[in-house]
Amino acid sequence: MMAQTQLHCVCLLTLYLTTGHGQEGMFSGPLKPMTFSIFEGQEPSQIIFQFKARPPAVTFKLTGETDGIFQIQPDGLLYHTKPLDRETRAVHKLEVSALDAHGATVEGPVPITVEVKDINDNRPTFLQSKYEGSVRQNSRPGKPFMYVNATDLDDPNTPNAQLIYQIVMQLPKINDVMYFQINNKTGAISLTLEGSKELDPIKNPSYNLVVSVKDMGGQSENSFSDSTSVDITVKENIWKTPEPVEIVENSTDPHPIKITQVRWNEPGAHYSLVEKEKLPRFPFSIDQEGNIYVTQPLDREEKDSYVFYAVAKDELGKPLAFPLQIHVKVKDINDNPPTCPPTMPVLEVQENEGIGNSIGTLTAHDRDEANTVNSVLQYRILDQVPKYPREGLFVIQTYTGMFQLAIQSLKKQDAPQYNLTVEVSDKDFKTLCHVQINVIDINDQIPIFEKSDYGNLTLPEDTAVGSTILTIQATDADEPFTGSSKILYRITQGDNEGRLGIVTDPQTNAGYVIIKKPLDFETAAVHNIVFQAENPEPLVSDVQYNASSFATFNLFVTDVNEAPQFSQRVFQAKVSEDVAVGTKLGNVTAKDPESLDISYSLRDDERGWLKIDRVTGEIFSVASLDREAESLYRVQVVATEVGGSFLSSTAAFHLSLTDVNDNPPRLAKEYTGLFFCYPLREPGSLVFEATDDDQQSFRGPQFTFSLGSESLQNDWEVSKINGTHARLSTKHTGFEEKVYNIPIRINDGGRPPLEGTVSLPVTFCTCVEGSCFRPAGHQAGMPTVGMAVGILLTTFLVIGIILTVVFIRIKKNKGKDNAEGAQASEVRPLRN
Ligand SMILES: *[C@@H]1O[C@H](CO)[C@@H](O)[C@H](O)[C@H]1NC(C)=O
Ligand SMILES: *[C@@H]1O[C@H](CO)[C@@H](O)[C@H](O)[C@H]1NC(C)=O
Ligand SMILES: *[C@@H]1O[C@H](CO)[C@@H](O)[C@H](O)[C@H]1NC(C)=O
Ligand SMILES: *[C@@H]1O[C@H](CO)[C@@H](O)[C@H](O)[C@H]1NC(C)=O
Ligand SMILES: *[C@@H]1O[C@H](CO)[C@@H](O)[C@H](O)[C@H]1NC(C)=O
Ligand SMILES: *[C@@H]1O[C@H](CO)[C@@H](O)[C@H](O)[C@H]1NC(C)=O
Ligand SMILES: *[C@@H]1O[C@H](CO)[C@@H](O)[C@H](O)[C@H]1NC(C)=O
Ligand SMILES: *[C@@H]1O[C@H](CO)[C@@H](O)[C@H](O)[C@H]1NC(C)=O
Repeated sequence: MMAQTQLHCVCLLTLYLTTGHGQEGMFSGPLKPMTFSIFEGQEPSQIIFQFKARPPAVTFKLTGETDGIFQIQPDGLLYHTKPLDRETRAVHKLEVSALDAHGATVEGPVPITVEVKDINDNRPTFLQSKYEGSVRQNSRPGKPFMYVNATDLDDPNTPNAQLIYQIVMQLPKINDVMYFQINNKTGAISLTLEGSKELDPIKNPSYNLVVSVKDMGGQSENSFSDSTSVDITVKENIWKTPEPVEIVENSTDPHPIKITQVRWNEPGAHYSLVEKEKLPRFPFSIDQEGNIYVTQPLDREEKDSYVFYAVAKDELGKPLAFPLQIHVKVKDINDNPPTCPPTMPVLEVQENEGIGNSIGTLTAHDRDEANTVNSVLQYRILDQVPKYPREGLFVIQTYTGMFQLAIQSLKKQDAPQYNLTVEVSDKDFKTLCHVQINVIDINDQIPIFEKSDYGNLTLPEDTAVGSTILTIQATDADEPFTGSSKILYRITQGDNEGRLGIVTDPQTNAGYVIIKKPLDFETAAVHNIVFQAENPEPLVSDVQYNASSFATFNLFVTDVNEAPQFSQRVFQAKVSEDVAVGTKLGNVTAKDPESLDISYSLRDDERGWLKIDRVTGEIFSVASLDREAESLYRVQVVATEVGGSFLSSTAAFHLSLTDVNDNPPRLAKEYTGLFFCYPLREPGSLVFEATDDDQQSFRGPQFTFSLGSESLQNDWEVSKINGTHARLSTKHTGFEEKVYNIPIRINDGGRPPLEGTVSLPVTFCTCVEGSCFRPAGHQAGMPTVGMAVGILLTTFLVIGIILTVVFIRIKKNKGKDNAEGAQASEVRPLRN
């Protein structure tokens, strides 16, 4: 009872506190299914809830998993009497029933769930106080090789049971480097990168770690911790790169041949080989014991080393470790004979090559390994073709293959070519190589004249240019048709003026001496000629031209009487056409090679305009000149030697005349048929044309026209059409039936201007059908009317006959005039 009272007080206090927080209704209420969460480890006698009884219920009963901890008072107050422990029971399933006064259940039982909330009231604990493990040297970093494991009784869903592992200490610790690491969640221990590299059982076979575990994720100061000791043994790794392998090439042993092996640390690994380079063939294999084989003979000359990888994998095909690099070197044996150069070497030797001089090298090849006895070659000459002039002309250096001249210099005349057979040998093989040696001609022979003196030759000085006067001949013993044997001839003395030339026949080397310029007795009567014969190619240094390359020849030139020679072939002069008679127009000069006097004369002076001074050659005018007759006057001048054979020669004298305005203008033609019909009905006009014989400007003549007499101005008018044409017009109609001669003044406007007055005949006549009817023979004027009547009366009959005759004549004239007028003048007869 005491306990109950005590309990009562506590519960009232609690209620007070909760209501004080304004939570009325949360701690009391009618009976219904409810769930409560209560932290474990709390003080006992804690009130959980106050159920309110509803009549007829008067009391409550508690059943279920009370574990002797939960109680309910008859008034409905639910509480627990001891601290809860989640680790004992995390959830209490209770039932509350409401009873009436008779103890009969009137409500429920209603499920009431009490969840026990965890508090961190349990330490993590390692399952073992001491762990032992082992690891292979060079194990993959991060790959676990052992675990530590701790437990914590607290709720695994709360931080209270969240464990963190940590390595606290590593013994020994070298250079402060951790070789081991732990997964802080799983407790898995593995090697660090450094550990994978550095661990070595020889240096230190065992390590000790202190590993701690903390709950609360290691984050809280209130976390509990535990620690354990881990002993680790380091074991040797047998997954190691094997030593490089050497395989002798071209092996005849049966294949495959084991060459090396690899082993994984544990049995059951799957081995394979991986090529490093892609090869056309891969002559290696591995079996499942890790033995590596070469499967066929190797050829060092094809490939002298191989590198590939050995891989170990687990059942799932995952690599167990890093691949191992396998190195294979192929060892040389002497299995290749020496080989000659792909094309036969052709060497060239000059004729004057000295004894002992290098004349070329034969380089043979050997595919076996360089700088070993397998590829060292030796050379030996076996044969020489031809063996002329003797055998053994050449030697070859045993190890370098260099050829030398052994005994003497070569001569192309002896043999232009030698074929050598050379034996090339290595340790075990011999090969024959062929070499061709060509002998090259050099210019070591000088041209030699067939004779040293070509004697005397006499020629007249007028020997024609181009004549061949002499053939000379030298010979050269060098190789024909080369620059070493071709001969060029020169004249070194006796022909300073270059009158002679020499042409060489390319086939025979004969030299033809020809005359290039005329010979001249007066300047060079004797030529003491020296010929030299040379090669276009220079001679080799120790050979010189000597006297045999020179020859002499004397050429005597005889005199021939030659005609005088004019200094020019054409002499020219230019004067104005109006120069006075007797003016000097020019002069000509000629000289006689024999220095005889000269007499000049003219030929073809057809107009008789010129004369020449026989002694001086001066030319004068002897008449007035006329450009309009000859603008360029050509005559011949003749120079004749005085005495001797009176030889002569001619030249031309061209006199060009410049124009002077010395011709007055005139009518372009004779105008005879101009007429007007009489009587004139109305004023008319006609056209005429003028011309001038002087040289005209490019514009043509620019004449001006006017009436020649003042008195005619009342009857006539002249008007200019253009530079050459003008129009004559009548001013009235009162003209008589007769011929008017109209004087017309024409001015040429030149410098100075020249003027001419011409007479233009214009006829007024009776027209019959547009043609002029004119009595024949009356040129001066027409007869008067009285005379005409007299004539009519007396000769009436005769007139009829005359009329018929005249009619025919006029008609004939008219046709002729019209044909001319169409071109030059216009005649417009006025009709009735
Ligand atoms: C650690 O121990 C617990 C309880 O024995 C077990 O459930 C768990 O699998 C273990 N963990 C490891 C990594 O061995
Ligand atoms: C646990 O390890 C993880 C990854 O290694 C790391 O991110 C985490 O910070 C570690 N936790 C503690 C508490 O050290
Ligand atoms: C192997 O050697 C023999 C002579 O010893 C030779 O004839 C053959 O060509 C060689 N094979 C190769 C692949 O070098
Ligand atoms: C050298 O050999 C070549 C062909 O190999 C042949 O044409 C030539 O005539 C030979 N010369 C001599 C001098 O035998
Ligand atoms: C050539 O002419 C020279 C000089 O006139 C003379 O001495 C010589 O005898 C002549 N030679 C011959 C072969 O006629
Ligand atoms: C010039 O030299 C040739 C050989 O090159 C020789 O035969 C000849 O006798 C020499 N002539 C003289 C004049 O020395
Ligand atoms: C004309 O003679 C003079 C000397 O009399 C001379 O100087 C001139 O060159 C000569 N002219 C011609 C064309 O010969
Ligand atoms: C001048 O005039 C005449 C007549 O009209 C004509 O025939 C002639 O062609 C002309 N001459 C020139 C140069 O125009």
